[in-house]
Amino acid sequence: MQPNTYPRIPQEIAPIATDFRRIQSALPHPASIPLLEKMEHYEARSMHGQPPVIWHRAHRYTVEDPYGNRWIDLSSGVLVANAGHGRSWVRAAMADQLERGLHHCYCFPHEARAALSEKLVQVTPASMEKAFLLTTGSEAIECAIKISRRHGTSQGGNRKKRIISFQNAFHGRTLGSQMAGGIPALKAWIQQEDPTFVQVPFPDGYQNEETRFESFLGALSERSVTTDEIACVLLETYQGATASFAPVEFMQALREWCTSHQIVLVLDEVQAGFGRCGKWFGFEHYRIEPDLMCCGKGISSGMPLSAVLGKAELMDQFGHGEMTSTHSGNPICCRAALAGIEIIEWENLVENSNQLGQFQQEFLQGLKEEARCIGVVHGKGLVSGIRFVKPGTKEPDGELAHRITQRCYENGILTFAPVGPGGGTIKINPPLCIDQAALEEALGIFREIVLKENS
Ligand SMILES: Cc1ncc(COP(=O)(O)O)c(C=O)c1O
Repeated sequence: MQPNTYPRIPQEIAPIATDFRRIQSALPHPASIPLLEKMEHYEARSMHGQPPVIWHRAHRYTVEDPYGNRWIDLSSGVLVANAGHGRSWVRAAMADQLERGLHHCYCFPHEARAALSEKLVQVTPASMEKAFLLTTGSEAIECAIKISRRHGTSQGGNRKKRIISFQNAFHGRTLGSQMAGGIPALKAWIQQEDPTFVQVPFPDGYQNEETRFESFLGALSERSVTTDEIACVLLETYQGATASFAPVEFMQALREWCTSHQIVLVLDEVQAGFGRCGKWFGFEHYRIEPDLMCCGKGISSGMPLSAVLGKAELMDQFGHGEMTSTHSGNPICCRAALAGIEIIEWENLVENSNQLGQFQQEFLQGLKEEARCIGVVHGKGLVSGIRFVKPGTKEPDGELAHRITQRCYENGILTFAPVGPGGGTIKINPPLCIDQAALEEALGIFREIVLKENS
């Protein structure tokens, strides 16, 4: 067994039956073992490593396996199911599209794409004038790099091509998005990185206590980067692995500085967007607007769809056919995304995320005071990153974090495996339609588990 994997030997678990959770078998269920083994045999190892729940059905904020067990989902898959799992409005929209037989049409015009592009421009700030639809978050990042670099070099000549991003950032797994990422271990395979991609420290206030904007400028000059060479600054609205935000003053100074040097400010909203942080878009917390924004995950609450949005001046730099993707604006994905956004609007899920988010953040800050094994809790709205550490230090305790997720899984609470530095961070990010009672129950169980492991 690799370190920090979830055991495959069924363990007897005391039955649980509440309005939201049901555990009525050994875990993993003995009948699931052949399926788990089959996947391990036929699939790349990197596809594995999550708690061994066979996802069979999902409803709003719960996930069921084929054996009658049910978990409260604190993962939203991986921060995707913002409107909730399996919503009937989304299913009906997709079923209607399926029935029409129009499942793909490349870049030929279709109604669903028009409706979604219009909706995306409507729900984003006025400066986001145009959208380009893609399939994954990584693709959206690649596209934003391309747009920024074209803009930089057309404004400032061949010099203006550097892509500035941040240490510990995660922007995806494709070559360009990984070069913009700031986690060295993830990109060791690249061997020869493009020197025009430069990372500077992220001012999270915990790992890096230096959060003044001047330190950003200092880091650029230490790396011999001058403003006339920079095409864009790219950053996650919050760093995905830990849910840590930069200080508001830092972001406002960055915004101003980018504008005064014709540098494109790109915000990666792949995790933060569509209500996750208690506002439509995470950057609203900073009271700034980006020049380009990359969206994914919660944009569609389930189907593979992503988007880049920005000013027309940036988005229209490339001519017909120069920015395309085979599955761009897939009709079924567009219908699902539109229906998911409608649910977020109609059910005020952004406000739900804000209200329940305040409860979640306060609850977890309180837990931090009780548990010495928690170094810090970051987050806003319905996303939190809880960093487990060796008591009295900032050294991540990946084993403890892993054990806690195992206990959660046994108790009907589903999180994904710990992430972040040293695998020490547990993320809590339920679908935005979760009810107060379910969230209270899940966080209460989480607290009990942490306190037990802390003692
Ligand atoms: C902040 C952020 N950006 C980009 C990506 C890449 O998205 P995808 O996995 O859809 O390519 C992710 C995925 O986790 C992410 O969290």
